[in-house]
Amino acid sequence: MFTKITVVGAGNVGATAAQRVAEKHLARTVVMVDVIEGVPQGKGLDQWQSAPIEGFDSRVVGSNGYEAAAGSELFIVTAGIARKPGMSRDDLVKTNAGIVGSVGKEIRRVAPDSIVIVVSNPLDVMCYVAMQATGFPRERIIGMAGVLDTARYRAFLAEALDVSVRDIQAMVLGGHGDTMVPLVSCTTVSGIPVTQLLAPDQLDAIVQRTRNGGAEIVNFLKTGSAYYAPSAAAVQMAEAIVRDEKRILPCAAWLTGEYGLKEVFCGVPCKLGRRGLEQVLEVKLTEAERAALHQSAAAVRDTMKALG
Ligand code: NAI
Ligand code: 2OP
Repeated sequence: MFTKITVVGAGNVGATAAQRVAEKHLARTVVMVDVIEGVPQGKGLDQWQSAPIEGFDSRVVGSNGYEAAAGSELFIVTAGIARKPGMSRDDLVKTNAGIVGSVGKEIRRVAPDSIVIVVSNPLDVMCYVAMQATGFPRERIIGMAGVLDTARYRAFLAEALDVSVRDIQAMVLGGHGDTMVPLVSCTTVSGIPVTQLLAPDQLDAIVQRTRNGGAEIVNFLKTGSAYYAPSAAAVQMAEAIVRDEKRILPCAAWLTGEYGLKEVFCGVPCKLGRRGLEQVLEVKLTEAERAALHQSAAAVRDTMKALG
């Protein structure tokens, strides 16, 4: 158990993540920080009052400032805004870069040795902004997207095959967007290659639905985007770090030559443990998958350019 974990942004993803962190006993104190006066305090108090029912002893508190977050070992950054009508993608990048940049500076000030899991979108570029603002090494800035995209892929596969989600092993790499790369070549059902169990057109449809996973939910919700699965994904990464589990999870990592890519955040298989990102694993990809990964990284670079 950590002494303190802080979730920045007490909106849909952040507040749900804080509750999950508390229910999993990952930290003695769970802090939620948000700019809206009263919201993190109110949600924190509400969550803390669920402790006697759920049986957790993590104390959840909310704040509008970072003093309460001082000394946190881990941050989950969900602060940001969603795209609004009339706002271009580049406008969104700049607005959220301003937010994540200011959050990063505060993290560096109050908890210079912490590990940061970035959730804010556009994910891969916000990881870069957080790395710049904190000055932290790549081991301590890790982006959440691959765990979510993989969970969606696994859920759709389990549904198509009518089997337990627990028996689907898979990985979705690349940037968090339309160019993400579900690795069909590495997808198995209890060790059986999925290509033996589903026809190519069925697999293609599932891959496409995975790529569209976030948009499918936005279309239902109309306002706002997914948060149950995203918060679960961020907290699975947090748990791997807190409990030093050495889990191999697809995360956005700053690449330094792996897969022939460097100086870009991109989703790759990562080992997560107490030191944060402990290793980037290089697995053998098919030529098509490698090309798709490079295309995805190029899309991340294009978005980085919008920052100027
Ligand atoms: P939300 O709108 O419910 O919550 C965002 C919160 O951030 C708001 O409460 C807002 O007041 C707060 N905020 C804004 N500026 C802040 C600042 N400077 N400091 C602290 N808090 C600040 O949005 P939601 O649904 O929670 O999503 C949060 C972010 O996560 C969005 O950027 C969203 O696109 C992204 N996201 C990323 C996913 C991924 O796979 N990486 C999945 C789901 C969401
Ligand atoms: C998602 O994939 C919006 O990035 C978010 O649901």
